[in-house]
Amino acid sequence: MLIGRRRLRLTETERDAMRAAGRFNAQLMDFLRQNIGLGVTTAEIDQLVFDYTLSHGHKPAPLNYQGFPKSCCTSVNDVICHGIPGPYRLKDGDIVNVDVTTIVDGWFGDQSETFLIGKVSKAARRVTQCSFECLWAAIDNLRPGSPVSAIGEAIVRHARKYNYSVVEEYVGHGVGRAFHQKPNVPHVPNAQSRRDRLEPGICFTIEPMINTGSRLTVLDERDGWTVTTKDGGLSAQFEHTVLMTEKGPEVLTLTQHGPQKGHRF
Ligand code: MF3
Ligand code: CO
Ligand code: CO
Repeated sequence: MLIGRRRLRLTETERDAMRAAGRFNAQLMDFLRQNIGLGVTTAEIDQLVFDYTLSHGHKPAPLNYQGFPKSCCTSVNDVICHGIPGPYRLKDGDIVNVDVTTIVDGWFGDQSETFLIGKVSKAARRVTQCSFECLWAAIDNLRPGSPVSAIGEAIVRHARKYNYSVVEEYVGHGVGRAFHQKPNVPHVPNAQSRRDRLEPGICFTIEPMINTGSRLTVLDERDGWTVTTKDGGLSAQFEHTVLMTEKGPEVLTLTQHGPQKGHRF
């Protein structure tokens, strides 16, 4: 177990490789942000991800990952995560999470944002705001050596203020030369996350999925991927890749163009 843990702690050279992967992924998100809106199909978003990534010499990690058929995930309204891009055309009032992951020189950067399309309902705006604040509440609750459970503690505390629920079946994760690795990063604390510690050099994602109603999920049996809310309520999510350093958490998938901490939707 010690050996496994040690391999998760990146050297300074490895940290720079992750910084480069995070930076490229964030630039891809900057590009998408300018192109997502009313009347755009989720398949068109996917094509933008594919073309931008390949034209810069990198690879979209979702494509063929465990059989996933597209280059990103697009999750609309009651879709919690892992929505498959297709002919669906974004319409006034939708919220859509776009989750992109790229492989840059063998290292993975992973992030997502929820976008508001046109004029949205109060609940749609509020759940998007809540999930964004939950992500930052978690980041702000971390110090070198914090237990992973500090993430879930902050998210549950914040979601409760909104009377919204936190999805438990899908979690954040260690990230590096693999898409998903240890540690698991649940958004609700559990026994394992109270034991795991975020020592300097550990890289991971935080990606809270927040529901307006019940936390319970349903997996689409037909496509094997799409996860929706059981009660049909709305769900929103934001994700960043974070490196723990000796000085505290460093967000690797942030540029000056995206929504910053404190942003209001
Ligand atoms: N990007 C997702 C995450 O944050 C994983 C998507 S897996 C896929 O972990 F196969 F659906 F792309
Ligand atoms: Co992730
Ligand atoms: Co992701």
